[in-house]
Amino acid sequence: MPEETRPITKWDSFTMVVPESKDKLFHPPDDLQRDAHVPDFNSYLEIYRKSLEDPEAFWKEVADEFYWKKPATGPMLQYNFDITKGNIYIKCMEGAKTNMCYNVLDRHVKDRNLGEKVAFHWEGNSPEHHLTITYQQLLSRVCRCANVLKKMGVKKGDRVSIYLPMIPELIYTMLACARIGAVHSIVFAGFSSESLCERIMDAQSSVLVTADGVYRGEKLINLKQISDDALEKCGEKAPCSVTKCLVVNHHAVRTKGGTSCNKLQVNMWWDEAMADSPEECEPEWLDAEDPLFILYTSGSTGKPKGVLHTTAGYLLYTSLTFKYVFDHHHDDVYWCTADVGWITGHSYITYGPLANGATSVLFEGVPVYPHIGRFWEIIEKYRVTKFYTAPTAIRMLMKYGQEPLQKFDLSTLRILGTVGEPINPEAWQWYHEVVGQGRCPVVDTFWQTETVGKMINKMLLISESDNSVRILLNLHSSPCFYLCREDMPWPGIMRTVYKSQERFESTYFRKFPGFYVTGDGCRRDKDGYYWITGRIDDMLNVSGHLMSTAEVEAALAQHPAVSEAAVVSRPHKVKGECLHCFVTLKDTKEFNQKLVEELKKQVRDRIGPIATPDFIQNAPALPKTRSGKIMRRVLRQIARNETDLGDLSTLADPKVVEVLFSQRSEAA
Ligand code: PRX
Repeated sequence: MPEETRPITKWDSFTMVVPESKDKLFHPPDDLQRDAHVPDFNSYLEIYRKSLEDPEAFWKEVADEFYWKKPATGPMLQYNFDITKGNIYIKCMEGAKTNMCYNVLDRHVKDRNLGEKVAFHWEGNSPEHHLTITYQQLLSRVCRCANVLKKMGVKKGDRVSIYLPMIPELIYTMLACARIGAVHSIVFAGFSSESLCERIMDAQSSVLVTADGVYRGEKLINLKQISDDALEKCGEKAPCSVTKCLVVNHHAVRTKGGTSCNKLQVNMWWDEAMADSPEECEPEWLDAEDPLFILYTSGSTGKPKGVLHTTAGYLLYTSLTFKYVFDHHHDDVYWCTADVGWITGHSYITYGPLANGATSVLFEGVPVYPHIGRFWEIIEKYRVTKFYTAPTAIRMLMKYGQEPLQKFDLSTLRILGTVGEPINPEAWQWYHEVVGQGRCPVVDTFWQTETVGKMINKMLLISESDNSVRILLNLHSSPCFYLCREDMPWPGIMRTVYKSQERFESTYFRKFPGFYVTGDGCRRDKDGYYWITGRIDDMLNVSGHLMSTAEVEAALAQHPAVSEAAVVSRPHKVKGECLHCFVTLKDTKEFNQKLVEELKKQVRDRIGPIATPDFIQNAPALPKTRSGKIMRRVLRQIARNETDLGDLSTLADPKVVEVLFSQRSEAA
């Protein structure tokens, strides 16, 4: 297997390279560099080498910050990372007993005197709604919620599905689960009832926590109705595992007259349940490898994978990466704009920041409501110092130019971060110059739901793992590369796919034995910088949200007019990538605007608004190999209007391609 093994020769962690303009270097301000936890490259190398040469001592030192009811009896890490030697497993701190919630809350309140420190500044969809929550208050509310869950019959190991918007109750519930040893499964509140049902059924959750509704900008989303539909759908397929539903009365929804909640038979209202619930709750002392949560991510078969994360390793990895990658300091005000329904929110809104005793902003709304300067207004209001967002958001806000930012004071900002998708040079430059006023380093962080925390970080401070990332040429030596992590796991790596060890091993470990395969393409330039080139499996990344082609194709194929569908991505100015769908209709069906609208709605209803196709093209036939396999590469080129199609010798009927090219402009 050919492998790029050339060592990195020039590697300066305190310079950053603007993509495509490699000789232009930007240096962080002196004071930022001087006060950093890792102030220079040599200090970084020292930490980095220790993590590789003596991982036992390295992780033990990280673990020493936290509370262990019982110390570990085994080594910090035990694993088999090589499929040819047996099943893949990873264990961290075997024998230790601890509690995640205790470590991120009680430890600060009881041992560090941080009870009065603000944990979250919650900012609602409407600027009129906001709340300040201290560590002490957070602890009390989490305990109340934990007691309510216990009263509802939730026990250690039970799964709790959470379908909540970005309100404090979401944080209370997830931490309450962690406190009593229940496994939370958070479903992003933009997913459809079908997607929610699928995730509830897979996890077999006994309780669902949701809200009556939420406003996103001007739009009311009736979460309870969607939840009811989901539970009904679960019940149609098998006896529904959810026996009780805890419902938050959202303040903004209540004051505007409420929503229709018509199937309330299993409901308990949040406020009533919490009112007489005690403010103290003894944490459940868990084994280091007891599960903490399941989070579903798209899988290339179309069925979402329940990525399982456990307790001790997750705590060590999220706390360490949060501290170093964003150089966290006690007086920072940190804001990550992600939704807690995604891994970024789990690791870098809830657990990582709280493990460090950080003060964060928790934002419910959207960047352009009630005005296009909302992000900048929030940065000024809370004097945000570290800001972490997605390239999609940057591209969207760039459209409005500099004026909306000039009305607000952004001088508190010190470090900017991005995540979720490759950042294009224009967006990078705008982020650096306009948002960061040329002063703030931009930290691009590459990682995944499966890795739990940041893996490669472009500059300033580089996480422990990045020099042992390998790029492997793919087996056909085509010009794409797999990005893999070699030899040794890190404490935060996923432990399995929930209820499917086989899928876990075949997805991530079978292709290159001894490596964890991310599924992304990557190249390394002559200076040693990594460039992530995007997914090289059947996955799409739309606005930083990962989805599988199979998932969208299955949704389209459910429409009675469709006989076959194939979905590929094409570039989009704001979203990064968007969906171009080719549909072959059943004989008697006509392709028209009405059908296009129906198909878009079909995908939206089946998966959620994030998956709405941008283009649907009539395909009298699809390009296939002689063995009947759809040639997605060719479809991708048609969607992108790339006429140099390369080798088409395996194509069964080349005419199909001509037809699709000629009809491309009719895609609607
Ligand atoms: O394709 C990569 C892309 O997002 C995928 C992971 O998606 P998810 O599990 O939903 O987690 C998103 C938040 C970490 C990756 O396989 N990706 C993530 N960050 C970057 C990225 N692509 C390029 N640059 C990034 N910084």
